[in-house]
Amino acid sequence: MRLETERLVLREWRDEDKALYAKVIGDPVVRRFFPGLGTPLDAAMGIERARERLKQFGFGFLALERKSDGAFMGMLGMAPFNENIRAAIPGHPEVEIGWQIGQQFWGQGYAPEGALAVLRFAFGTARLDEVVAITYEGNLPSRRVMEKLCMVHDPDGSFEHPDVPVGHQLRPHVLYRIRRPVWLAPG
Ligand SMILES: CC(C)(COP(=O)(O)OP(=O)(O)OC[C@H]1O[C@@H](n2cnc3c(N)ncnc32)[C@H](O)[C@@H]1OP(=O)(O)O)[C@@H](O)C(=O)NCCC(=O)NCCS
Repeated sequence: MRLETERLVLREWRDEDKALYAKVIGDPVVRRFFPGLGTPLDAAMGIERARERLKQFGFGFLALERKSDGAFMGMLGMAPFNENIRAAIPGHPEVEIGWQIGQQFWGQGYAPEGALAVLRFAFGTARLDEVVAITYEGNLPSRRVMEKLCMVHDPDGSFEHPDVPVGHQLRPHVLYRIRRPVWLAPG
């Protein structure tokens, strides 16, 4: 899987991405809405998992690269939920879109630009019916990206994230949805 936009390349992972991705998820500012920092082991395991899912489903979380200078920016893509998370979300949606990029790249519309290409792939090539996004309720930048994509907040979809300790302030999560446009519907 490889997607391109005007300014971005979304590509499959290389081994050398592991150290670069570890820097992104090890940054306390990037992780301020997560219950902890990501370790180098988390980065390596996340990349291996993404590779497996790309093989299994034909889509997954991808490495995000800036076209102009080839800079590694972070992760952006879509994947089926882990079963324990899916079970915790009302209605049990199947596939999420998600993003995590280095702070030096923020505020330039890169995440919505890349995510739009992922949604085109989701509804065009992969023929999915729906894609959702979840985030901590206070993660306003991530919610802004969802809104820029015309994803719709589902107030009935709020849930407590099962991987965040009970009672932790980052546990309440919100759900945004987007469905395949009718003009792309099969038949
Ligand atoms: C969420 C994220 C991917 C947005 O990426 P982005 O490429 O900066 O997206 P945009 O440029 O469209 O900016 C989205 C919003 O982020 C906020 N933002 C922009 N620059 C910012 C900065 N330097 N610091 C904090 N917030 C900023 C603004 O609210 C912006 O909305 P606006 O365009 O209406 O002003 C990025 O902030 C990120 O990686 N955050 C850390 C990881 C994370 O929380 N991921 C989501 C987990 S669910």
